[in-house]
Amino acid sequence: MKKVLYWIVGIAIVIQFIRPDFKNPKVDNTLTLNTNIEVMSVLKNSCYDCHSNETKKPWYHNVAPLSWMMSGHIKSGRQALNFSKWQSIDTQIKLKQLKRAKQLIKNEMMPKGEYLLMHENAVLDEEKKMILEEFFDAQIKKLSHT
Ligand code: HEC
Repeated sequence: MKKVLYWIVGIAIVIQFIRPDFKNPKVDNTLTLNTNIEVMSVLKNSCYDCHSNETKKPWYHNVAPLSWMMSGHIKSGRQALNFSKWQSIDTQIKLKQLKRAKQLIKNEMMPKGEYLLMHENAVLDEEKKMILEEFFDAQIKKLSHT
């Protein structure tokens, strides 16, 4: 029994040496999403850690295996949708992402549940959901006419 414990502790220590790189890519201010403070504050609070180049690292970002999970989320999150590059995204793709974002929020699939466990203030209440939905709708309307 003791041997098993040693192994567990040993592995827990060894995995700490595999550290993902959490350095944020540069933010080009001419490409970022810019809209009113209300919308920006909801997005920054609930989406930006995975969908922008302005990720805020929590205290456990250096603790494996949490760090690996986080790094994976950030990587695929940015790939799927990056508000720091908003102005450079093709209109058709933006429209698709906006429509998808509406659905995901409605079905409580974004922000991701694992993330919300550690980021209570990122939970979207009804008011915040409304703010985002109205913003996404307005953007969809605007982009559909261009
Ligand atoms: C903890 C990280 C995290 C947070 C926070 C987060 N997302 Fe995501 N999001 C992801 C990941 C990872 C993906 C890639 C697909 C997947 O794994 O589900 C994704 C995918 C998406 C997509 C693309 C889906 C598709 O089908 O292409 C949209 C749109 C999206 N997220 C919107 C949001 C919005 C809006 C918020 C804030 C309300 C948000 N996300 C918060 C991690 C996150």
